[in-house]
Amino acid sequence: MKGKTIGILTSGGDAPGMNATIRAIVLAAHKFDHQCIGFMHGYNGLIHQQHKTLVPDDVANVIHKGGTILKSARCPEMLTEQGITQAVQTLTQLEIDVLIVIGGDGSFNGMLAIEKLWQGQLIGLPGTIDNDIDGTDFTIGFSTAINTAIEAIDKIRDTADAFDRVFVIELMGRQSGHIAFNVGIACGAEQIISFENFQQLQKQQKLNAIIEDISAHRSDAHKSYLIVLAENLWPGGAHELANQLKQQANIDCGLCILGHIQRGGSPVAKDRILATRLGVAAVQALNDGKTGVMLGELKNDIVEVPLSLAVCHTKHVADNLVSAHENILALAAQHHKTVL
Ligand code: ADP
Ligand code: F6P
Repeated sequence: MKGKTIGILTSGGDAPGMNATIRAIVLAAHKFDHQCIGFMHGYNGLIHQQHKTLVPDDVANVIHKGGTILKSARCPEMLTEQGITQAVQTLTQLEIDVLIVIGGDGSFNGMLAIEKLWQGQLIGLPGTIDNDIDGTDFTIGFSTAINTAIEAIDKIRDTADAFDRVFVIELMGRQSGHIAFNVGIACGAEQIISFENFQQLQKQQKLNAIIEDISAHRSDAHKSYLIVLAENLWPGGAHELANQLKQQANIDCGLCILGHIQRGGSPVAKDRILATRLGVAAVQALNDGKTGVMLGELKNDIVEVPLSLAVCHTKHVADNLVSAHENILALAAQHHKTVL
């Protein structure tokens, strides 16, 4: 088989494990005599021809590094016809046979736009901390992000406990609750406010319930109270929730918007392994002539999913996780009643 020229880019929010993914692609490609070209800064590198050849030496000792050696970025030009045309021109000029994009659903939409004008092969790999991609149980970066958040919140718990304080902690996830719900469960948060269990219309109802619960909790030996909140959900965010608790019930809240800490750091084992499996699978898929697909992992099997299905946002937090949390809260409420 004649070697192919593979373009690789990382796009959108960077995620721990992107480097491990690039490494796996470059090493596997090398085995099959393919040539790899890395485009810098997401789609910007494709549009503005910023690229470099990637050989195995370039990916030595990057498996454990957060961020991405190819840099990442948002690229508004890709939302214009001119930008897409320029991106396709670069692919044609450099005689790229296959473009592999590591990113989230936005980045996959970029590939779907390119697909309309370009005959080459397009392969997506799910790299985002948000875990909001269909057709894969986990995205590369999610496991690290939730472990990072758990470690941070455990520390908040210590100080909250020492002062019997209430804390509101806002977590990333864009429009999805995978991070908030999984982290909230793993930290034993007293409240999780996420897309799965909250609608903005119920805001006052939810506030009343939290106020009641905090006051019941005051009689417990363990009085610290953690509210984990998904970003982009509560009107005005964590600040506003904390203000409202103060105004309506004189509850003082500590506040933590965990932010980009969740995006950085060395990938955990699960992300390194997922990244490596998917990177190698991408090279196998391109060898087989596949295009328009994302490689994902479902129930431990590597699967190919049409890109158009990967971006549908139908993968929700598992119902049993939501109900496990609710049932624990129900038991806690019963306990309060007995004590009172
Ligand atoms: P993520 O890939 O992590 O979801 P974004 O949503 O910011 O991150 O998308 C990353 C980039 O993908 C955008 O900056 C843009 O360049 C490109 N992109 C997103 N949506 C589209 C679209 N509908 N058409 C073309 N390109 C897109
Ligand atoms: O998609 C990853 C993510 O970290 C989201 O969780 C968050 O909403 C967004 O990116 C933040 O983007 P930026 O780094 O551009 O502020």
